[in-house]
Amino acid sequence: MADFLPRSSQVNRASSVIDFGIGQPSFDLLPLELMRRATAARFAEGDTELLSYGYEQGDGRFRQALADFLTAEYATAVTPQELMITAGASQALALICTLFTKPGDTVFVEEPSYFLALRILREDFGLNAVPIPTNEKGMRMDALEEALARQRPVFVYTIPAFQNPTGHTLSAQRRARLVALGQEYDFLVVADEVYQLLHYAARPPAPVAAQTASGRVLSIGSFSKILAPGLRLGWIQTSPALAEHLAACGLVDSGGGLNHFTSNLVRVALERGWQAEYLQELRGVYRRRIDVMDAALHRYIGSRVRWQKPTGGYFFWLEMDARTETVGLLSAASEVNTGFLPGARCSSVGGLGHCLRLSFAHFGEEAIEEGVARLGQVLASYEPKAA
Ligand SMILES: Cc1ncc(COP(=O)(O)O)c(C=O)c1O
Repeated sequence: MADFLPRSSQVNRASSVIDFGIGQPSFDLLPLELMRRATAARFAEGDTELLSYGYEQGDGRFRQALADFLTAEYATAVTPQELMITAGASQALALICTLFTKPGDTVFVEEPSYFLALRILREDFGLNAVPIPTNEKGMRMDALEEALARQRPVFVYTIPAFQNPTGHTLSAQRRARLVALGQEYDFLVVADEVYQLLHYAARPPAPVAAQTASGRVLSIGSFSKILAPGLRLGWIQTSPALAEHLAACGLVDSGGGLNHFTSNLVRVALERGWQAEYLQELRGVYRRRIDVMDAALHRYIGSRVRWQKPTGGYFFWLEMDARTETVGLLSAASEVNTGFLPGARCSSVGGLGHCLRLSFAHFGEEAIEEGVARLGQVLASYEPKAA
């Protein structure tokens, strides 16, 4: 094992604020040594091709290396023809909106969903994002069918594995049903699968990406969660026909593909197995952080809150009693230098005011323990609003 992670303490010493609202890896997890080696190896190849314009769908050798990596990690076959390289998942979603929607179109989203995806859909593209209820098995197919009887979306946006914010995973049965409904009702399935590979116990069901043959699926992936967000590198896996459609737009024709330089460096990390080793190390770190956060929640918060211990992704989702209002709670939390994402930010209908999201990605074990203890203190003195 290459052991790309530093051994230093994981407390974020730069700041005494322990804000569990931050959904990105702690700085000490970022793979500087891995990227240094990958860069040196790529530059040692001695050609200038990486400094030139790239290719609309993405560099062929990179797509091959990514396809091989995904085939092994997903345990389902992925081909380079199905991959379109992007500048991250957010940009992938924006590209899909650019090419498949116009302002005023309807799309369906999970309730709750990733708050910034809601912003991209609504504010950046002027789409009518209609919420579909979810439960612990992900988007409810009965509710989706009811909504389809009233309205036809251009696409359904789902985060199938270890969802942001709830941590829930769409069951295999629902994944199949969703795509079948896409065929029946003529909509696309935009599956934001950025957490599919961040599993710390069992693998989740096969990615929605495994159903690209339907011609309905656009599966979004990103190196932000498995390598480093600053790389701004991701992909869309789809049918070869839809991949060609994505690559046929003026943006990538004029710019020569997205993030060609970085994909050349990351290609080396994929080919040499460093990405796979790093991902394995990352899983160990996050698994331990979950154990620490779960134990701290039991110790300091326990009885007033309901949660399920996550087995993947970045998040704990906490449900308080209905009278607790987490936007107000956040102000009290910030006074003791801690924080979280209030549930209302993730709702499209102004609901979930009694819920909150905690990320375990940005702080090490000691800081997690300390931050949850501070939250416990805040909750102990918090007066819920009158019934
Ligand atoms: C569900 C989901 N999609 C997309 C993103 C953003 O990914 P990227 O950095 O690749 O744009 C995030 C980051 O929090 C996320 O949780």
